[in-house]
Amino acid sequence: MCGIVGAVAQRDVAPILVEGLKRLEYRGYDSAGLAVIDRQGVMGCLRRIGKVRELEDALGEKPVQGGTGIAHTRWATHGEPSERNAHPHTSDDISVVHNGIIENHEELREQLQDLGYIFASDTDTEVIAHLVHHERKTSTTLLEALQKTVVQLTGAYGTVVIDRREPDHMVVARSGSPLVIGYGIGEHYVASDQLALLPVTRRFQYLEEGDVAEITCGKVEVYDRNGALVQHEIIDSDLDHEAGDKGSYRHYMLKEIFEQPEAIANTLEGRLTEAHVAVESFGHNAREIFSKVEAIQLIACGTSYNAGMVARNWFEDMGIPCRVEIASEFRYRKAFVAENSLFVTISQSGETADTLASLRLAKDEQGFIHTLSICNVPGSSMVRESDMAFMTRAGAEIGVASTKAFTTQLVSLLMLVVAIGRCKNRLSESDEATIVAELRELPGVIRDVLQQKEAITELSEDFADKHHSLFLGRGTMYPIAMEGALKLKEISYIHAEAYAAGELKHGPLALIDSDMPVVVVAPNNELLEKLKSNMEEVRARGGQLYVFSDPRAMLVAGEGIKVITLTEVSDLLAPIVYTVPLQLLSYDVALIKGTDVDQPRNLAKSVTVE
Ligand code: G6P
Repeated sequence: MCGIVGAVAQRDVAPILVEGLKRLEYRGYDSAGLAVIDRQGVMGCLRRIGKVRELEDALGEKPVQGGTGIAHTRWATHGEPSERNAHPHTSDDISVVHNGIIENHEELREQLQDLGYIFASDTDTEVIAHLVHHERKTSTTLLEALQKTVVQLTGAYGTVVIDRREPDHMVVARSGSPLVIGYGIGEHYVASDQLALLPVTRRFQYLEEGDVAEITCGKVEVYDRNGALVQHEIIDSDLDHEAGDKGSYRHYMLKEIFEQPEAIANTLEGRLTEAHVAVESFGHNAREIFSKVEAIQLIACGTSYNAGMVARNWFEDMGIPCRVEIASEFRYRKAFVAENSLFVTISQSGETADTLASLRLAKDEQGFIHTLSICNVPGSSMVRESDMAFMTRAGAEIGVASTKAFTTQLVSLLMLVVAIGRCKNRLSESDEATIVAELRELPGVIRDVLQQKEAITELSEDFADKHHSLFLGRGTMYPIAMEGALKLKEISYIHAEAYAAGELKHGPLALIDSDMPVVVVAPNNELLEKLKSNMEEVRARGGQLYVFSDPRAMLVAGEGIKVITLTEVSDLLAPIVYTVPLQLLSYDVALIKGTDVDQPRNLAKSVTVE
């Protein structure tokens, strides 16, 4: 969702804030702003609608400088994207940035209005600014005012507050929206994501739920929800400093698509022995836990949910019952929990609000034996709150449309399936050895598929003037069709729907005409003949097919059918491999349509609100 950066230093922090915002822009990008206080206690505030570069241009014309500052890039929830709704929000001397949603903001707004406060925006955040201002009158410190404020808030917040009258520090609070403190030499920072601060530090302390902290140049003091002084571990980030750069690529998405061979190799690194998946890579007690597991519950949102859909097939092929559900549905119904079930969240960010809420529900109220997080961000809420964590190691993913995070999730899930299968004797040693050998080949196979870029670019020209499209697949390729459709709609704004191909004649066939491209993922597997019949149904109605297949499937291009032939791969690896050409197709279509590939309209990378 939105991005936060803050800094306290002896030097001007505005450049640190702007660089941080640029690195966080993928999280929200409808407006941006900053507030900086100089040593004389003069506060400069600048806000702009649009992207961070608008703010940067405005700063060029009207510089603000100072040693203490906060900044924010916004993804609107309460109040339209506009300059007056952009953060920071101020109340006289107080200035505030906030991520999350204050659910009781209307009630608080009324109370504050009765006290004489005048609201300048439609946001929920502004109540924090006025409340801190109000509480500051009867508090000895700004921190105390923030502590008195947060107990009145219902909802989710990661917030940073500065006060013009006390220019040497900032105070922060976290509940339901992540904040990380960065340690520099003689200066300190805060951000909603490590990535923002990598140019200035690699040393981080994550705040826990309910924490508040006071940050000055010389010290950081963190207090838990009971007011006790605490010190969480300070970690050294292993994220690459260059992680936020596009390099020579035109878009992050393209860079991230092409990084997949390396990302997958990293996911596998040190986790495979000669012929086994190292079960301990899921945790020191994973072997004991996995032996007891009798069923799996996978929970995720968006692209991560599609990864879960593939994994369900893999688990059940091995005779291990597996359910997969969208987090926002799961958390609001009484789900059946099978005995000895393992609860697994799949999340790139580890912060998605619904997935995190489901995890908390699973831990607090449901009878799951253990929780595991498959995640890409070390130190994220899900990783910290799960019993076990398995990092996908995709590296920073900036493009809003998920690519390498998805394929590394699939690889991680496949390793999980193998590990549990072996612990439960559902998988023979020789079958495990075969899968391990295939996994080792995977980066090379993906490299081959990436060579098809030009052929896929040619196909994409057919899509650019279309308004609708269908994606078809069967078995494990049905979720890949779902992922292909999701990618296309996200970044090209072409309406794309995925269907299990067998469902075609139960409705979507009525839509088929020459204006409705139909993409089919059709590797040679035991469902191919069925799929070919479905393709004939499309062709017979004048539909145009775009088929991704392999040489053994013997599909030939002709009237109404274009075929991209990929390297032959095993059934198990096919979902991972066939994802890649669909990513490239969406990218190329978006390029022709001229949409904002990395930051598609209305979307955000990390959805930390419900
Ligand atoms: C957003 C992102 C998607 C992502 C989904 C779930 O919608 O734009 O790319 O798949 O959130 O995010 P997560 O971080 O939990 O995988």
